[in-house]
Amino acid sequence: MPCPSRSDELIFFVNGRKVLERNADPEVTLLTFLRKNWTLLIMSSLRLTGTKYACGRGGCGACTVMVSKHDPVSGKIRHSSVTACLVPICSLYGAAVTTVEGVGSIKTRLHPVQERIAKSHGTQCGFCTPGMVMSMYTLLRNHPHPSEEQLMEALGGNLCRCTGYRPILASGQTFCAESSGCQQKGRGTCCLDQGENDASSLGRQSDICMELFAKEEFQPLDPTQELIFPPELLRMAENPEKRTLTFHGERVTWISPGTLKDLLELKVKHPEAPLILGNTSLGPAMKSQGHFHPVLLSPARISELSMVSKTSDGLTIGASCSLAQVKDILAERVSELPEEKTQTYRALLRHLKSLAGQQIRNMASLGGHIVSRHCSSDLNPVLAVGNTTLNVISEEGTRKIPLNRDFLAGLASADLKPEEILESVYIPHSQKWEFVSAFRQAQCQQNALAHVNAGMRVLLKEGTDAIEDLSIAYGGVGDATVSAHKSCQQLLGWRWNELMLDEACRLLLDEVSLPGWAPGGSVEFKRTLLVSFLFKFYLEVLQELKRLDSHHFPEISDRFLSALEDFPATVPQGVQRYQNVDSHQPLQDPVGRPIMHLSGLKHATGEAIFCDDIPTVDKELSMALVTSTRAHAKIISVDLSKALELPGVVDVITAEDIPGTNGAEDDKLLAVDEVLCVGQIICAVVAETDVQAKHAIEKIKITYEDLEPVILTIKDAIKHNSFLCPEKKLEQGNIEEAFEKVDQIVEGEVHVGGQEHFYMETQRVLVIPKTEDKELDIYVSAQDPAHVQKTVSSTLNIPINRITCHVKRVGGGFGGKVGRPAVFGAIAAVGAIKTGYPIRLVLDREDDMLITGGRHPLFGKYKVGFMNSGRIRALDIECFINGGCALDDSEQVTEFLILKLENAYKIRNLRFRGRACMTNLPSNTAFRGFGFPQGTLVTESCITAVAAKCRLLPEKVREKNMYKTVDKTIYKQAFNPETLIRCWNECLDKSSFHSRRRQVEEFNKKNYWKKKGLAVVPMKFSVGFAATSFHQAAALVHIYTDGSVLVTHGGNELGQGIHTKMLQVASRELKIPMSYMHICETSTATVPNTIATAASIGSDVNGRAVQNACQILLKRLEPIIKKNPEGTWEDWIEAAFERRISLSATGYFRGYKAFMDWEKGEGDPFPYYVYGAACSEVEIDCLTGAHRKIRTDIVMDACCSLNPAIDIGQIEGSFIQGMGLYTTEELKYSPEGVLYSRGPDEYKIPTITDVPEEFNVSLLPSSQTPLTIYSSKVSP
Ligand SMILES: Cc1cc2nc3c(=O)[nH]c(=O)nc-3n(C[C@H](O)[C@H](O)[C@H](O)COP(=O)(O)OP(=O)(O)OC[C@H]3O[C@@H](n4cnc5c(N)ncnc54)[C@H](O)[C@@H]3O)c2cc1C
Ligand code: FES
Ligand code: FES
Repeated sequence: MPCPSRSDELIFFVNGRKVLERNADPEVTLLTFLRKNWTLLIMSSLRLTGTKYACGRGGCGACTVMVSKHDPVSGKIRHSSVTACLVPICSLYGAAVTTVEGVGSIKTRLHPVQERIAKSHGTQCGFCTPGMVMSMYTLLRNHPHPSEEQLMEALGGNLCRCTGYRPILASGQTFCAESSGCQQKGRGTCCLDQGENDASSLGRQSDICMELFAKEEFQPLDPTQELIFPPELLRMAENPEKRTLTFHGERVTWISPGTLKDLLELKVKHPEAPLILGNTSLGPAMKSQGHFHPVLLSPARISELSMVSKTSDGLTIGASCSLAQVKDILAERVSELPEEKTQTYRALLRHLKSLAGQQIRNMASLGGHIVSRHCSSDLNPVLAVGNTTLNVISEEGTRKIPLNRDFLAGLASADLKPEEILESVYIPHSQKWEFVSAFRQAQCQQNALAHVNAGMRVLLKEGTDAIEDLSIAYGGVGDATVSAHKSCQQLLGWRWNELMLDEACRLLLDEVSLPGWAPGGSVEFKRTLLVSFLFKFYLEVLQELKRLDSHHFPEISDRFLSALEDFPATVPQGVQRYQNVDSHQPLQDPVGRPIMHLSGLKHATGEAIFCDDIPTVDKELSMALVTSTRAHAKIISVDLSKALELPGVVDVITAEDIPGTNGAEDDKLLAVDEVLCVGQIICAVVAETDVQAKHAIEKIKITYEDLEPVILTIKDAIKHNSFLCPEKKLEQGNIEEAFEKVDQIVEGEVHVGGQEHFYMETQRVLVIPKTEDKELDIYVSAQDPAHVQKTVSSTLNIPINRITCHVKRVGGGFGGKVGRPAVFGAIAAVGAIKTGYPIRLVLDREDDMLITGGRHPLFGKYKVGFMNSGRIRALDIECFINGGCALDDSEQVTEFLILKLENAYKIRNLRFRGRACMTNLPSNTAFRGFGFPQGTLVTESCITAVAAKCRLLPEKVREKNMYKTVDKTIYKQAFNPETLIRCWNECLDKSSFHSRRRQVEEFNKKNYWKKKGLAVVPMKFSVGFAATSFHQAAALVHIYTDGSVLVTHGGNELGQGIHTKMLQVASRELKIPMSYMHICETSTATVPNTIATAASIGSDVNGRAVQNACQILLKRLEPIIKKNPEGTWEDWIEAAFERRISLSATGYFRGYKAFMDWEKGEGDPFPYYVYGAACSEVEIDCLTGAHRKIRTDIVMDACCSLNPAIDIGQIEGSFIQGMGLYTTEELKYSPEGVLYSRGPDEYKIPTITDVPEEFNVSLLPSSQTPLTIYSSKVSP
C-alpha cells in the first residue's frame, strides 16, 4: 500500500462553512482547532471560543459540540454530541460540526435552547453553558419532543459546578412532551393540587411566588429552522471515496483506508499501529500517560465494521458501532425477543445506561471498548459471562476468539495478532433456565467508573435448581477484568441455595484476591462488593425461579426483597418559593424580582468572553509550569539546556529572573533550594505555542535530595508538632466543672476529607507588557484582582499604578481564585518583562488540581457532656486542619472554624480549639464556607452521638439545644435567634418532617437491606470578614450624554450574579430601567484598592457603594428634574451636561464594623448572620453503599432578596457542592504525596443524576434586617 508523503485534503464543515485543511495534524483535536484555528477564523470571521476547555479528557462536557455524519448502513444522518477535546480533526472527514456559535447568536437569532437555559436561570458563571446547550440541542435534533428521561441521559455527561443542575434541567423540561407547568405535577404530587401552598405560616398566598421564569414567553422550537446537512457532504457520502486518505502531522501520521482490504494490508505494514475509533481510550492515555503512536489507522470509513446482523441464536454487532448504537440495537432486540433470550442483552443495557456520559457513549466504539480491556470496563465482564465471540479478520482470513478470561487477561495465545483486527462481536441469546445479570457500584450514578462491577451468569438444569454452568467476572479489582473461573467450576452441580451461597462467597473471596493495592484503593470495600453482588444475583435467580415454577421454589422473605431493587433513575422535581415584591413597587424597579443573569444569553451562545477567549495578541507567547515531583527535598540542580534547545522555546523563567520579591519567605512564587510539596512551582517555560511549552517542561531535568520528614497527614503533623500558626481558642463557662455534673459523657473523632474547588474554568492569565513606563495590562480570572496587582507590583518592583488588572468574568471561583491567581499573574508578569512579549498562562486541569490546593481536610476530637434529657451541658472540641505547606488563608480558616463551631446551639460550657497543621502538601486555601462545612460536621456529630446515647431523635436534641432567646454567642456577640427558629419551624413544616419520620421508621422496620434516613439541621452562618476594613467597597458610576449609564464597582462576576444585582440597585436608585445600564468589567484602574469578592458579602457592600454613587448623581440631577418633571431621563441628562453638572460619581461604603480580640476571646466578628434549615431524606443500600437522595427541603433567610432567582440558584448550587464534599468528592494521594485525583475521571463532583429526586427551596418570607441594602441578605 503506497503511503504518499503529501497529506490529503481534510474536508469537513463547521457551522455550515466548509473547512479544507491541507496540512491536518492528527495530534490536533477539534477543540484546539475551533479555539485556535486562524484560517477558519479568517474564513468565517468568527471566533469559535464558545466551546470551552475544562478537562481535556472527555469527562466534563464543557467542550460538547454536535457532529453529524451520514450513516452508510441506515443511509440517515446521525447527529451525535461529542466532546471536542477527544476528537482528532482527522476523524472528521466528511462530517458536519455544529458548535454553540452555529446554533444561535445574540447578534442574529437565539435558538430556543439558548433562550430557555438563560431565562430559566440555568447559567451562573456560564462556563459549562455552551456544553449544556450543545447536549440539549443535539437531543432536540434527534428528538424534538424528548422524554424527561432522554433529557437526563443527554445531560449526564455535562458537569456544572455552580447551579446544582435544577434550573438547567428546568429549561430542558420545557421541551419535553410530558412536562407540566408545575415541576411536580408529572408525579401526581403537585403542591398546588394538594393545598401545600396555602402558605399557612406565610401569610397571604399571593405573596409567595413559585415561578422563576415565564415559560409562555419562550419562542417555540421550530425544527425546520435548523442547519441542514451540507449537500456537498451528502454527495461525498453517497459516492464514497475508496482511496486511502493520509494526513501527516509533525510527529504522527493518520491513515484512513477506504476499504477493508486496504485496512488489512495497512495492518500488516503497521502492526503496532492502533486502530483509532472514538479515541476515548487512546486519547486520554496519550495525554496523561504519555503513550505515543507515530501511526494511527482509522477504520471509520469501512462499512463492514459497522454491520449488524440478527440471527435466530444471537446478534452480531460491528466493532465500529458506537456504544450509543449498541444500546439502541440491544434495546430493539429486547423488545423483539422473548425475555428468556435477552438476559445478556438486558444485563448489558443496565450498564450502558450509566456508562460514562452520552458524549462518550456516542464516540466510544464496541471494538475499542473490548480491545482496550480497561480494568473497570463495564461491558467486558458481562460479555465474557455471556459467551461472546470475537470475529477477527486479517489478510490471512477470519477466525473466532472467545471473549473469555484468557483474552481479558491479555494472554498472547488468546488475543488478536498484531496484523488482525476485530471485525464484529457475536453475542448469543440466552436460553430458558439461564440467568444473566450485571452489577456496578461507582461514586456517582452516572459518568463515573465503577469501583467494582460484575457480570454473572448461571445455567440451571432444566426444571431444577442444580447448577449446570456458572460464570462470574469482576471489573475494578485488578489490572484487567478478572474471571472467577475456579470457584465457578467447583460449584457445578450444587443446588441454588444458601449452602451454595456460603460456599460461593468463601471460594470467591479466596480466588479473587485483592492484594494490598487495587485500582482506586478501598480494598475492604471492594471485597464487600464482591460478595454483595453475588448475594444480589443469588436472590435475583431465586426470584426468577419462583416466577418460573412457584410450586417448587421457595419464596424470598419480603424483608430481603429490598436487596434486589435498583434505585430508580428519576428526574429531579422541586418547587422554589420566594416572596413577591410589593404590588405597589414600580414595574421599572427590578429589585426583588427574578431577573436573568446579565450575561445569561451570552453564556448560552458562547459569546461571553472568558480570559482564555481573548484573541491572541501580537507576538504572544505561552507559558507552562515546571513543578516539583518531590514532597520535601533539596533542589540540587536544575538543567534547562535540553528544554532551551527545543524549537519554539524562548526562555525559562526561574527565581533568579524575579526583579523584586519572590513571594513570601514561607510561600515562594518560584522555589529556591528547597521544595515543600509535590506541585510546587520551580520554573516556567515560555514558548511560541502552548504545545511547545508543554513539551519543553518534560525536558527540564531537576535533581533532588530527599529531605526528612515528609509529613502528609494531620496525624503526622501532630506527631511532628508541625503547625503553621498558634492555636486559636475560645472558651466559655467552666467546662471541667460542667463535665463533672452531667449524666453522661461521649467522646469521638470526626474526619473530613479535603475538597477541590473544581471551578470549570481553570486558572488563567494573560499579561500584556506595554511599551511605555513599565505599564502592564493583566487579564485574569480572579476573585481579588487588587491582590494580583499588588503581588505583581512587588514581584516586578514597580509601583502599583503601572499595573492594571481586568476581570471580565470568572468561570467559577468558590474561594479558589482569591489568592492563587496572584501567583500565576506574577510568574507570567516576570516572563512578560523578561521576554518583552505578552504571556498567556492557562493551566491544564491536571496542573490546576495538582498545584492549587483546596478545602482544608479536618480532624476533630470531641468530648460532650449531657443530661439524659439530651441537654448538652459541656462541649469540648479540638480541631486540626491540614493547611499544606504554606500559611495562605489557614490562620483565618482556623479562626472562622472556631468562631462558627457552635452553629445554632447555645451550650453554656464550651471550649473550642483549632490548629492549622503544616504538611508537605500544596497549600490549602479559601473555599466556600471557610471551615464551616467541616466544623459543623463535628458539632452535628456530637448531637447525633448524644441522641444515640439518650435514645432520643436527633432533631429533639437539636431543638433542645438551639438558641431560643436573645443571647450572646461564645465570642460574646449579641444574637437574636428569632429568624433561625422561624427557618427551623418552616423547614419542619415544609418538609412534613414529622409524618415522614414515621414513614421512614416504618420503611426501616420492613426492609432489611435498604434503610432510609431523615435529618433536619439548622444553620447559623456568619457573613463577612472579621475586620471592618475588609468590608469597605467603592463604585464608579458614569452617566453619558445619551443617558446610558456605566457602572463599575469593586466586586467580580464569578457567576454569583453580582453585576446583575448591582444594576438592579442602580436601576432602583436612578429610577430608570436596567436597559440603560452597562457593566463592562472589574478593573483596578476604575475602582482601586478593592477587597476580594468573597465571604458572601460582595453584593451587599458593593451594592451600598453603587447606591451611594447613584444617590450622589441623583442629588445633582434633582434641580433639573424639579424644573422639568415631565421631561425624560435623556432630557435631564442633556440639561445637566449643558449646565456643567458632573455626571460621574464615586460611591463608597465604609464597611460594617467587625473585630475580634483573640486574646480576650470576644468581639463582634460578623456583621450579621444568614439563617437556614435543611431537611434531607436518603436511602442506602447496605449491601453496596449505594445511596439515593430522596428529598431535600431547604428554607433560607435571604431577607428581602435582591434577586430571588440568583439567590435560590446560589442555595441550590452550594447545597450540591456540599453534597459532593460529604459523598463523592475524594482527593487521593500516593504515599509519597502525589495527588492521583487530577481530573473529572478520578475526582467526582456531583452530576445531574445526583440531584435529590425532590429538591425544594424556600426563601423565608417577610424577614427584615435594617442593616443591609434594601434589607436583603446574601446567600452563601
Ligand atoms: C470520560 C470517560 C468516561 C468513561 N467511563 C466509562 C465507564 O463508566 N465504564 C466503562 O466501561 N468505560 C468507560 N470509559 C471507557 C470507554 O468505554 C472506552 O474508552 C471506550 O469504549 C474505548 O472505545 P474507543 O472507540 O474510544 O477506543 P479507541 O480509544 O479509539 O481505541 C482503543 C483501543 O482499541 C483498539 N481497537 C479499536 N477498534 C479496534 C478493532 N476493530 N480491532 C482491533 N483493535 C481495535 C485500538 O487499537 C486501541 O488500542 C470512559 C472513557 C472516558 C473517556
Ligand atoms: S474539556 Fe472536553 S470534556 Fe472536559
Ligand atoms: S454555570 Fe455551570 S459551571 Fe458555572
